[in-house]
Amino acid sequence: MNIRDRHPDCDSVIALCRPGFEAECSGELVAALGTARTRSPKPARNTGLVRVGLLNLHAFDELDRGIRLSRLTFSRQLCFGLGEVAELPERDRVTPLLEAARAAATPFSAILPEAADSAAGRPLSGLARRLVAPLEREFTKANLLRPKRLALPRLHIVFAAPGTAWLGLSTADNGARWPMGIPRLRMPSGAPSRSTLKLAEAFLSLLDPDELDQRLRPGQRAVDLGAAPGGWTWQLAQRGLRVTAIDNGPMAGSVLATGMVEHVRADGFTWRPQHAVDWMVCDMVEQPGRIAALVAEWVASGRCRQSIFNLKLPMKKRLDEVLRCQEIIHQRMRRSSIGFELRLRQLYHDREEITGYLAQTR
Ligand SMILES: C[S@@+](CC[C@H](N)C(=O)[O-])C[C@H]1O[C@@H](n2cnc3c(N)ncnc32)[C@H](O)[C@@H]1O
Repeated sequence: MNIRDRHPDCDSVIALCRPGFEAECSGELVAALGTARTRSPKPARNTGLVRVGLLNLHAFDELDRGIRLSRLTFSRQLCFGLGEVAELPERDRVTPLLEAARAAATPFSAILPEAADSAAGRPLSGLARRLVAPLEREFTKANLLRPKRLALPRLHIVFAAPGTAWLGLSTADNGARWPMGIPRLRMPSGAPSRSTLKLAEAFLSLLDPDELDQRLRPGQRAVDLGAAPGGWTWQLAQRGLRVTAIDNGPMAGSVLATGMVEHVRADGFTWRPQHAVDWMVCDMVEQPGRIAALVAEWVASGRCRQSIFNLKLPMKKRLDEVLRCQEIIHQRMRRSSIGFELRLRQLYHDREEITGYLAQTR
């Protein structure tokens, strides 16, 4: 490992993603880093694991400033690689990992053993979980773990195989809040469909806790386009929002029984509210470009202040399609005088799709 002083140098960028989306994840990282700085062999498919090699070593601080997880769509977790530790003995993996981590010449605020969420990665995530306690114990003994000093980097130990781990660093504000970037959400008993978890995850992943407190409040009004059977509507109603649910299909009785929901049978592309609302959410199965244009129109025209929406991706050229949708939204928003922020993310509960958050900022 090549580590200098208190500003460790990094040889790679490591990301976890949904298995099958390695090319998109890697493509996005290479674009953010600049092709001249990377040597990036094609990532192995269905591994859920991406490592983009850097041609030269880069200071951790510089990478952390330049590559932000919140601006990436396909990375669930992100860290900057310090090197690989191979041939970890089965009887004691902790000692060689600790010795390798010393080379970073810094204590850590957290130790995060991780693995990909793929067929090959699943047994490794069991191993990673079992190592949490022994790693924390030994790092604490060695004075290398200071959980209260949140400004210190977090150490990621990403298992690529039972005997091989990649070490990486992240800062708490530039990494997922959940191990492996996966928030574990329990299916609420009253919800009519599992897709309620998608909106629950979107609120947690696309907004930080302070934003969520300020921007999603009981008493607000929301519109849900493509609402049936009502998982998203139920999620909003549970949070105290009054919801107009637009869908020609039937809404589940449990959702209507909340007393917070008005069901309107109409086309989500042409229906408009009489008064501006706080939120518009949209889960209609349609071409992503059409959804992007519709959402931008609602926010740019002030019909809603903010929106969460799902974009179903095509089978091929998925990254291109995401860039195209981004461009559609940027163009429409720039034509209005409204400031905005756009975040796009492939959530754990997303399959061949991504979820977006578009909000007015003034
Ligand atoms: C994936 S489902 C939505 C699931 C919903 N979010 C939930 O949590 O239960 C898509 C819905 O969009 C509706 N839909 C598709 N095109 C529509 C349109 N043009 N106008 C209104 N609804 C539409 C379909 O009827 C379908 O119920």
